[in-house]
Amino acid sequence: MSASLAGLKVFVRTFGCQMNESDSEHITGVLVQAGASRASGPEDADIVVVNTCAVRQKSEEKLYSYLGRLSRLKKKRPFILGLAGCVAQVRQAGLIEKLPFVDFVAGPDSTLDLPEIVGRAAEAPVVRTDFGRDWREIGAGATCRETPWSAFIPVMEGCDNFCAYCIVPFSRGREKFRPLPNILGEVRAAVEAGALELQILGQNVNSYRDPQSGIGFAGLLDAVTAAPGIEWVRFITSHPKNFGDDIIRAMAASPKVCPALHLPLQSGSTRVLERMNRGYTREDYLALVGRLKRSVPGLLLMTDVIVGFPGETEEDFEATCTLLREVGFSGIFSFRYSPRPLSAGAAIADDVPLEVKRRRLIALQSLQKTIQTEIYRSFVGQDLRILGTGPSPKGAGRFSGRTSGNLVVNFDASSDPSGRFVTVRITGSGPYSLHGALHKGADSDIIHRP
Ligand code: SAH
Ligand code: SF4
Ligand code: F3S
Repeated sequence: MSASLAGLKVFVRTFGCQMNESDSEHITGVLVQAGASRASGPEDADIVVVNTCAVRQKSEEKLYSYLGRLSRLKKKRPFILGLAGCVAQVRQAGLIEKLPFVDFVAGPDSTLDLPEIVGRAAEAPVVRTDFGRDWREIGAGATCRETPWSAFIPVMEGCDNFCAYCIVPFSRGREKFRPLPNILGEVRAAVEAGALELQILGQNVNSYRDPQSGIGFAGLLDAVTAAPGIEWVRFITSHPKNFGDDIIRAMAASPKVCPALHLPLQSGSTRVLERMNRGYTREDYLALVGRLKRSVPGLLLMTDVIVGFPGETEEDFEATCTLLREVGFSGIFSFRYSPRPLSAGAAIADDVPLEVKRRRLIALQSLQKTIQTEIYRSFVGQDLRILGTGPSPKGAGRFSGRTSGNLVVNFDASSDPSGRFVTVRITGSGPYSLHGALHKGADSDIIHRP
């Protein structure tokens, strides 16, 4: 029996990746199902859950500064403060020792226990960081979606790869796969609730295997794209070493699979990739990109890069730059290496000086800016179908959306097109976005959701 939280208001603050955003929708959903209602911020909440990210040192630092603010708020007005997600899992009870104003620590596998944990935490601090071996189904019934038109569909969690720099295998545990029937059930429920786009999620999404039938990620894509009513399907994050030709075939087979792929590279130097334990060489990565580009016309690729991994030489770094030029990514997330606890990297000297890391990161980002400017420019003059995402920070009457290739488009419109498809004629471009005007063609204006 779970405790009733009737009359209590909950606020969830999310740090980190889409998996954490999706988990936060579950955290809110589970607590709302137990009777709580939603608060608009920590100021009017009785329960505050911070869903944390541990991936880089900076992610953790950002968390501690936010928690400092919450502790001041808590002195003025008491509430129950809980930490969920990756820092919770990795630091466990140490968090309560370090931050005595925290009432509970709950790892990513304990979302379903939160009503009970919150109830207990009112009496004494609770730490819950066990990992089960099987998938714990939360389902659409206990999911408070932030953007119902674009639904997160988690299909696997965890990681067995142990890249030398990475904390995720420790914060998310071993790989666990969600049964395919549950996935398809949630897809149907999401479409009924108005989803036009699905974002299939997993730390190594393309290593998916249905625990019952053994159907792999290509089969999952086939099944999901066959669901009636779905327009766009994306998936993140793929590991290059698990990207079989069957997945390329499934991408090419359905026009519903967006021609956009996030394919983390990390380094363009085989020597560094080996030391990172990535399981592929520079040549493997380039060959995979070649096969993808040949099979999926118009495919846009995005990637992650780490600079300054221990032992990275100027020559290694140069190899990353030449690979960026060769592939032509439409976007990159680039990071300075920081050692993370528990990872293999924590045991080797972080020997690339901070100044060198800084210089390489700036050089990489400026190179990428040039590459991206060219890619974005090539869309000027085209009419693109866009899924509206909301008001643009650029001012009143201006809105933003994304193309199927995941490019950001800003445009003027008389009403908010969030969650609807519109056609925009692209009139200009910058390195990070396109801009244009709603295309007043025969049927375009705003295409309303059916
Ligand atoms: N497969 C995971 C990867 C998460 S980490 C997923 O997408 O769900 C996201 C990115 O952070 C990694 O691809 C890597 O580029 C970067 N990263 C991870 N550990 C890091 C570290 N110790 N220092 C710097 N960057 C790191
Ligand atoms: Fe951060 Fe990785 Fe955890 Fe996502 S899975 S919240 S990126 S540490
Ligand atoms: Fe991390 Fe590598 Fe897994 S980046 S999430 S250990 S594939």
